Amino acid sequence: MGQTLHFDTLLAHGGLEPGPAGATAVPIVQSSSFAYQTAEGLEDVFRGRAVGQVYTRIGNPTTEALEKRLAQLDGGVAAIATASGMAAITTAVLTIVRAGDEILASSSLFGGTFSLFRDTLSNYGITTCFVDPLDLDGFRNAVNERTRLLFVETIGNPKLDVPDIPALARIAHEAGIPIIVDSTVSSPYLATGAELQADILAYSTSKYINGTGTTIGGAIIDRGVFNWDSPKFPHFAPFYKKYRAFAFSARARKLVHKDVGACAAPFNSFLLTEGIQTLALRMERHCSNALELARFLKVHPKVAWVSYPGLEDSPHHVVASRLYGGRYGGLLIFGTGDKPSAFKVINALKLARNLANIGDAKTLVIHPASTICADYSAEEKGLMGVTEDLVRVSVGIEDPRDIIEDFKQALAAL
Ligand SMILES: Cc1ncc(COP(=O)(O)O)c(C=O)c1O
Repeated sequence: MGQTLHFDTLLAHGGLEPGPAGATAVPIVQSSSFAYQTAEGLEDVFRGRAVGQVYTRIGNPTTEALEKRLAQLDGGVAAIATASGMAAITTAVLTIVRAGDEILASSSLFGGTFSLFRDTLSNYGITTCFVDPLDLDGFRNAVNERTRLLFVETIGNPKLDVPDIPALARIAHEAGIPIIVDSTVSSPYLATGAELQADILAYSTSKYINGTGTTIGGAIIDRGVFNWDSPKFPHFAPFYKKYRAFAFSARARKLVHKDVGACAAPFNSFLLTEGIQTLALRMERHCSNALELARFLKVHPKVAWVSYPGLEDSPHHVVASRLYGGRYGGLLIFGTGDKPSAFKVINALKLARNLANIGDAKTLVIHPASTICADYSAEEKGLMGVTEDLVRVSVGIEDPRDIIEDFKQALAAL
């Protein structure tokens, strides 16, 4: 079209090629592998002399369409879609770190990521230093000669704290290391990777990008801006030499993604290319519904506390307003004083579903302390902001009057 398309247009058109018989949906190419007429042709693709698909664990046309769209949305040069958000985070991190290296991470993380860093990677000689994401000096002071990347979530899940990502990016860059930003909770709609000055983005596409609770998926976006030509990253040298701005995505796809094998299924990639088209419209409604519910809960006599970055007295309001253009996402947390009352409210809800997910069109709730964070010590729960009375709400896109009515009748049970 000869022009740069705007974000909302890219959601529907990014990466879309004309399909067979004029199909406008991305075709599902449900094939494990791809045949070549000649042995030379296949050799050329394997050796990187020609572009082509070989085997769905490494790449697939349906998945590629999704990857192109995701890369365009975040101002990236390439993307890799994976089987889950955890697969994306694992692949992104393992592309960079080696035994003996250290990760500098926010202490306010999704439980799976916390456990990956604390329990799994530590078994392979990769340590993690956790720092409060609001403590910029803490990050600056924690950098040492072994630090190889900084990892942070845009909006911490479930603490809902809002770090100053561009400031953290500056700290990472001063230390000569990349910043990986998990933008799952904000989605690229609240701010793109380019706006946040992230080097690499990791997503659970299972959430807002899918939007309907049908699909587990993940994605890594390479913004192609970090300089991998550094003595800190000698293992990147052959990739930097050959692929330059694509060094990270090349090393990720050709090595870790290929070897770990956590690829996206073509059908899931199709569902994600369908779901993402309405991301902007859904996020607007998630944000406005969450603000309305937060305001309702804030003044409810049975509610002890509410945390939502959109509330003007939230300690995160100023940074969130600056970074996310007056939109604060679809998650809120609140407490009713203790665990029994939290359970009572959850049990009395009729519309909101009690389950372990976020970002669905439907309103969802969970009691993190007894479920997704059940295995963590009291101290770790404290770091993650998980109190015994905390209820996390992923506010859906239903009519806000029905959502509020549901919480009103549930709180009446107390
Ligand atoms: C912020 C964040 N990152 C990563 C993940 C992991 O994603 P997945 O469940 O798709 O593996 C989640 C899942 O809840 C999440 O909330």
